[in-house]
Amino acid sequence: MILDELDHASIIEGSRLSFSRVFKYEHNNMNHLEDILKLLPDEKIKMIVADGVFSMEGDICDLHGITGLAEKYHALVMVDDAHALGVLGEKGKGTADHFGLTDKVDIIMGTFSKSLASIGGFIASGSKVVDYLKHHSRPLIFSASIPPAAAAAAMAALEIIQSEPERLEALWNNTSFMVKCLQEIGFEMNVSETPIIPIYIRDNALTFRFTQLLFEEGIFVNPVVSPAVKSDSSLIRMSIMATHTHHQLEEAIHKIEKVVNQVGLFDEKETHHGMYN
Ligand SMILES: Cc1ncc(COP(=O)(O)O)c(C=O)c1O
Repeated sequence: MILDELDHASIIEGSRLSFSRVFKYEHNNMNHLEDILKLLPDEKIKMIVADGVFSMEGDICDLHGITGLAEKYHALVMVDDAHALGVLGEKGKGTADHFGLTDKVDIIMGTFSKSLASIGGFIASGSKVVDYLKHHSRPLIFSASIPPAAAAAAMAALEIIQSEPERLEALWNNTSFMVKCLQEIGFEMNVSETPIIPIYIRDNALTFRFTQLLFEEGIFVNPVVSPAVKSDSSLIRMSIMATHTHHQLEEAIHKIEKVVNQVGLFDEKETHHGMYN
């Protein structure tokens, strides 16, 4: 298996269970991916696995690059669409649809735990792969299935996504509004392309403190620190929703700005480190 170095932890677990050799390429670096593919014997089965939308920084995989190389080096492609389902593509169909490459992706995996607000997940692939998994995937065979209520909740959410496209529009309007406001405060906003918006703090301890201060102000965000990311990339992950009102987003921005000033985030490095000595 050939994995993007920022693939989700569940893919790492899956790669261990596959008993295959695992190679990792630098994040979204197609030259590095090609260097690895070149070294692998043509007769071996190879599969490139990438997140459609990367879970911590919200950027999108280079699916054109990946499928092009897969074709050239006879590799399979799997996309983990956990964060793209309901977000990218026509009616939220996901990353492959967003790029018009659905036919070039061999396996699309999705979870019900994000935009579908339930638990469980799915594999979309040809019948041979699906049959194989049904009979060989140990986690599937030796663990209980999801409860009917969770399946029904996921199906109902899917119907809402398909029949109420105004929600997708609201999601993207809210996202661009938030990106613009955060940029105005002074945050780097050049990585994310989706409603997962990273606010780079670039210091583990300060990331926790920033999160705590925001929580005290009534804003809930997730701190992302090492080992999930390198400590100089530590960040606060904001997840924007279709149902956030403009009033709520403005309030969040106001409070983020307050906390930025409180901790002196954009002050000279010496001053800001001094605060935590
Ligand atoms: C990219 C990605 N894949 C898979 C998962 C696992 O999803 P679940 O919690 O539904 O097992 C997550 C959850 O955080 C994720 O972010």
